[in-house]
Amino acid sequence: MEIVHLPVLLREVLESLNPGPGGTYVDATIGLGGHAEEILKFIGSEGRLIGIDKDEEALKIIEKRLSDRRVILKMGNFSDMESLLCQESISEVDGILFDLGVSMLQLKNLERGFSFISDKPLNMRMDKRQKISAWDVVNKYPEKELERILREFGEEHLSRKIATAIVRWRGKKPINTCSELSKIVEGVYGRRGRFHPATKTFQALRIEVNSELEQLRAGLDASLRLLKKNGRLCVISYHSLEDRIVKKFLVDNAKKGFVKIITKKPKTPCPEELSLNPSSRSAKLRAAERI
Ligand SMILES: C[S@@+](CC[C@H](N)C(=O)[O-])C[C@H]1O[C@@H](n2cnc3c(N)ncnc32)[C@H](O)[C@@H]1O
Repeated sequence: MEIVHLPVLLREVLESLNPGPGGTYVDATIGLGGHAEEILKFIGSEGRLIGIDKDEEALKIIEKRLSDRRVILKMGNFSDMESLLCQESISEVDGILFDLGVSMLQLKNLERGFSFISDKPLNMRMDKRQKISAWDVVNKYPEKELERILREFGEEHLSRKIATAIVRWRGKKPINTCSELSKIVEGVYGRRGRFHPATKTFQALRIEVNSELEQLRAGLDASLRLLKKNGRLCVISYHSLEDRIVKKFLVDNAKKGFVKIITKKPKTPCPEELSLNPSSRSAKLRAAERI
């Protein structure tokens, strides 16, 4: 089955990134290549696109889908962007895009353990080489640590009750699957609202397992060092924790005179995009130019 990932805020990304002929661009989260494919249309025959992802499966797909001599694919973490580019003798670039979060490939493949309807083992590792998985967090972390993660990374107001319920259940037997964990959280909530009650718990676990916020901070710092004068940085975030980090990074660096913010307010999907791709609803694009 071919999994399609509709690139989010595509028109807005192209406007802000402004890719041009002969330029060198980094797609720091290439995923299934939706944005990359479009960027390639603007960079002419001499342009280059470096696509980074820490998901080996995504890179295998993209290798076939985007076989183009202008594309260089790098498996790794965007926080190591400088060394990944250095391996290709690239020390400066004209534009960098981050499209944060998970891809459809990760969400739809239930084996990857990102989805709360899955009866597969709790996993959530974007990089399969990494040791710690959601199973370890749920079954091994002390109650206080679980509560903190749920509160800080999930902004979950029932963090204490959920952490207590998890510890009570795992005292009887390990919590192995995504659906077992969802049911425990549902039990704490007692009723269903608009969103699945386990949404925030799953977000928190995913952030913890993949060190998402630390890596975002490091990736943004690296991008500032790599961008040429007038180079563009575009970041699409999907929840308030990410967006706060991006906003603070841009405001701080604008004050220091390192960047000019292009998006006074973040750009969000238009009604047409929302009806075509409802999962884009929480997306926010912020962009800046290196000065
Ligand atoms: C929303 S998807 C990107 C989709 C892509 N823009 C497209 O149009 O197909 C996010 C991707 O970023 C990757 N990713 C997340 N954090 C990363 C990190 N720290 N380093 C490298 N890749 C990361 C995920 O594995 C996932 O494939």
